[in-house]
Amino acid sequence: MASAATDQAPKRPEVRTSPTAYEALKKHFEQHPEERLNHTHKWDVSRSDIYYEDRWQPIFKEMQDAGPLHYIPEGPYGPYWAVVGHKAIQHIEALPETFSSSWEHGGITILERLSEEEIAARGADRRELPMFIAMDRPEHTGQRRTVAPKFTPSAMGDMETEIRARTGELLDSLPRGEVFDWVDNVSIELTTGMLAILFGFPWEDRRLLTFWSDWSGDTELASIRDLDEMRWGFLHEMAAYFQSLWIERTHEKEPGDDLISMMIHSPAMNQMRPEEFMGNLILLIVGGNDTTRNTMSGIVHSLDAFPDQRKLFEENPDLIPNAVQECLRFQTPLAHMRRTCTEDTEVFGETIRKGDKVVLWYLGANRDESVFEDPHKLDITRDNARRHIAFGYGIHRCVGARLAELQLRVLLEEMHKRRMRVHVVGDVERVRANFVHGFRKLEVEITEF
Ligand code: HEM
Repeated sequence: MASAATDQAPKRPEVRTSPTAYEALKKHFEQHPEERLNHTHKWDVSRSDIYYEDRWQPIFKEMQDAGPLHYIPEGPYGPYWAVVGHKAIQHIEALPETFSSSWEHGGITILERLSEEEIAARGADRRELPMFIAMDRPEHTGQRRTVAPKFTPSAMGDMETEIRARTGELLDSLPRGEVFDWVDNVSIELTTGMLAILFGFPWEDRRLLTFWSDWSGDTELASIRDLDEMRWGFLHEMAAYFQSLWIERTHEKEPGDDLISMMIHSPAMNQMRPEEFMGNLILLIVGGNDTTRNTMSGIVHSLDAFPDQRKLFEENPDLIPNAVQECLRFQTPLAHMRRTCTEDTEVFGETIRKGDKVVLWYLGANRDESVFEDPHKLDITRDNARRHIAFGYGIHRCVGARLAELQLRVLLEEMHKRRMRVHVVGDVERVRANFVHGFRKLEVEITEF
């Protein structure tokens, strides 16, 4: 890799921790309510109010009854194909050459990227950082290889002890007989701790990881340009901090087993440019943060909503591995990923044209009744829960899936060990977004079973 590191003594940059991107957006909308997007098409499931108000289920059902994919001709992000059938999503993800993930074609979310003219007007450093989630083969294969060894079953075995200890410690510190926010006290804390362990990130600074990746707020800003502008400052600070860690790690005599050291010393790094290294680090933080966090909140919310399933969990801890899969299906913390079609092609009887935007709605597909019986019921004994596509499918299937599953399993096991029953008793606030699907706030109280 061309070295971006210098020989200067490493010094970690000063960083802001307030306001978060979410808070900045919230304030922006309070001042400019007219800037919320205007969605008119009845099947435009990119509108975030249906997730905020938790009323997306009948819309996806109506679409699925009519077919697995639909062309949505109008919407604030331009026309797109909404793919809502489970089999159709797998079909599309199995054709990564025809359905591209790369930034050059349009990237992985429904949002439009900046044009070359806009990038030039802002300065070349405003280009999106390259990340392998938004690359096609062969670049994708080479770069995924630099991080994949950190997520093997044996690497998970090495991390389990520390994850279990941290989880147990946190659960023991929670108040009893008192209402508190599960999102802030448990989901965020555990997910951030896991990422800090993974990266060998300074423990005392770990909340910065949450702060930097807190982009899940509001996707209803009329102008993606403004959103980009707000995010840019945070991205810049994060890259500076990681650069200082990178410098520290390159100076180490014995390479550590954290992910940053591992990437630095991976032979595949020879192919990676410094901005790609940075981009991929950010991908891992953002990829591992909101997702696992929202599943941890989803577990508590759904077990509370289905007391028969909570009772089953309490009586049969052997069901925990399957319960993890079922809760992933039920929550689906990333609602969609996007692809762009590279050649005219036919999918389940519809002709998709070169250049068309294709949005894969995992959230809908995980409630597809042609695959999952009684899909809106949480059923921790469901025999095909593992068929969920919350981690995607094909060559881009989540590289961190095993780590996420480990964390969720350990959480349920440690809750069970402590005979902890979590009741949702207060405010529940969902994320107002069409990409991250989860909870901002979940007020709970703990009792024993
Ligand atoms: C990719 C979901 C946890 C890192 C993905 C994709 C999804 C996903 C849907 C895209 C698949 C596609 O485009 O087909 C989730 C969920 C998680 C989770 C639901 C937790 C419940 C994690 C964790 C990490 C991580 C813990 C790492 C610390 C990544 C990376 C990619 C990815 C690097 C890109 C893979 C590629 O392009 O080859 N994840 N993720 N994720 N995820 Fe996760």
